[in-house]
Amino acid sequence: MKKLGILVSGRGSNMAAIVDACEQGTVSATVELVISNNKDSMALCLAQEKNIKTAHLSSSIYPDADALDSAMCDALTASKVDLVLLAGFMKKIGPKMLARYKGRIINIHPSLLPKHGGQGMFGINVHRAVLDSGDKESGVTIHLVDDEYDEGAILAQRAVVVKPEDSPESLAARVLKVEHLLFTETIQKIIDGSIILPTD
Ligand code: GRF
Repeated sequence: MKKLGILVSGRGSNMAAIVDACEQGTVSATVELVISNNKDSMALCLAQEKNIKTAHLSSSIYPDADALDSAMCDALTASKVDLVLLAGFMKKIGPKMLARYKGRIINIHPSLLPKHGGQGMFGINVHRAVLDSGDKESGVTIHLVDDEYDEGAILAQRAVVVKPEDSPESLAARVLKVEHLLFTETIQKIIDGSIILPTD
């Protein structure tokens, strides 16, 4: 069984979807560790309720970015994590993490990248930008993480229709449902070999 580490910052609904899929067996993996930069994140509470090991690692504990980078690597390594999932994680991944887990850090973004991605494009901002652009469709992107926000190789995408009456909130809700499905499907495809990650 693959061992998953999940990095979160807030609500944790994507983390919950992954945890549920592992419990139900639709994802052949176990969630070994949940790390948050936010000690008050709901995701940490949910993970603790599920008896999943958690860690609060942040710049308030490690003011030195390099030390925080090392602490994250060490925590994931200690839990023997194979794949690192970013599920609403709002911080950049450090160079040690990128090197240690090269090609095995996966993020979910609530638009059809490269549209509406990059620094500042998170949460409701993404859906507001989609509506402001007049796009007739939005969607979900699952991609590898590199040293730039939302620029790693795309692993999976699924479109979501934009309705004329949509608000950022109604679009966000429709996209989030697809996020939960696509994230779990894509992680299982990586595990069963249908999606091949770069090995170098
Ligand atoms: C999701 O929309 C995800 O695409 C983005 O951040 C949000 C996190 O939501 N990266 P949740 O914490 O998983 O509910």
